[in-house]
Amino acid sequence: MSIQSLTTSNFRNFNYANIKCHPQLNFIVGDNGSGKSSLLESIFFLGHGKSFRTAKIENLINSSNDHFVVSVKDDQNFQLGVKRDNKSNFEIKINGDSKYRLSDLAKHLAVQVITPETFRLFFGGPKERRRFVDLGLFHVEHNFVDLWRDFRKVLLQRNACLKNKILGQQLDYWNTSFCQLSEQIAEVRAKYITELGTELKQWLSILLPDIANKIELHYSQGWNNNKQLATVLKDNAERERIYGHSMFGAHKFDVKFIHQKLNIEQILSRGQQKLFLMALTIAQANLIFRSQQIAPIILIDDIGAELDTNSRTVITSAIAKLNCQLFITAIDETALEPIIPKQKNYSMFHVKHGVITEKQPI
Ligand SMILES: Nc1ncnc2c1ncn2[C@@H]1O[C@H](COP(=O)(O)OP(=O)(O)O)[C@@H](O)[C@H]1O
Ligand SMILES: [Mg+2]
Repeated sequence: MSIQSLTTSNFRNFNYANIKCHPQLNFIVGDNGSGKSSLLESIFFLGHGKSFRTAKIENLINSSNDHFVVSVKDDQNFQLGVKRDNKSNFEIKINGDSKYRLSDLAKHLAVQVITPETFRLFFGGPKERRRFVDLGLFHVEHNFVDLWRDFRKVLLQRNACLKNKILGQQLDYWNTSFCQLSEQIAEVRAKYITELGTELKQWLSILLPDIANKIELHYSQGWNNNKQLATVLKDNAERERIYGHSMFGAHKFDVKFIHQKLNIEQILSRGQQKLFLMALTIAQANLIFRSQQIAPIILIDDIGAELDTNSRTVITSAIAKLNCQLFITAIDETALEPIIPKQKNYSMFHVKHGVITEKQPI
């Protein structure tokens, strides 16, 4: 699947924008503050129901209006739209029908984003790594959505017990399903992470060939990998009682990328970290593509930042092999050299003060 056209109104500094998208490669160039990131943000919003830049959805509404609308038409003729007003009301539409939730849109769109901030978030703590892996699982493992929803419910109940010191039988009751669901999720994740690792190697061999074969993925499932969760909970009952929340379980998983016994962020430059995250994002995109025939969308904001010409050249080779739709922003066309293909099989958009125009290839 790819986005054929995108329409936004009152989103950030765009009063109205309507573009026809290229099924593979879309470039968006413009000065600082012109609206490039905002355009990517509008696509991201459809896929996630939130922004990659702010937790406050209000900020996305054009300051002189009371609501925004984003809608896309995909290549299977689905019309997907979201309207959000400044009173927190959502309206989600799929083919004109408005009985939907944000999560229904997410089933149609697999949107991943890479920004100059991504590596800081990704290597800064487990939260972003968890979010990343679970986005892949959501699209690739069909039973993951249900498993995760059930787990979340039990986790909330169990946390409520621990917080309110309701121990004994009631806690034991939640422990049973908490352990069962955690073990099930851990198994699905382990399988997925192995697949991701295999796919990652292929893309690293293009983007970071020097280290491609030396990277190992270390998956920690959220409690000691060699123990039953029930045993871990028993051994830590007192600590959990003191802290008042679930310290072990499927919500505490992490994945680390190791190179010669070190976390890779300790040895890679920022430019290399960006290439690494590109390889990882593309690897996940490919798994998503294969499993569902939903073509994933990758948004790359400010691609020029931190990348030299050599890095941009290897990105060009990776892009040529990709099965997904890309939206790439840069300050100007020079910052995109040599990523813009010689053949005119792409679309180029220029943004100026919230007005977007397509530049026809010469
Ligand atoms: N809610 C809003 N209403 C109107 N303008 C906004 C809103 N939010 C941000 N802007 C403005 O939109 C412009 C575009 O920002 P951005 O998309 O980050 O630009 P770029 O990525 O091209 O540098 C900025 O000048 C910003 O001040
Ligand atoms: Mg920007």
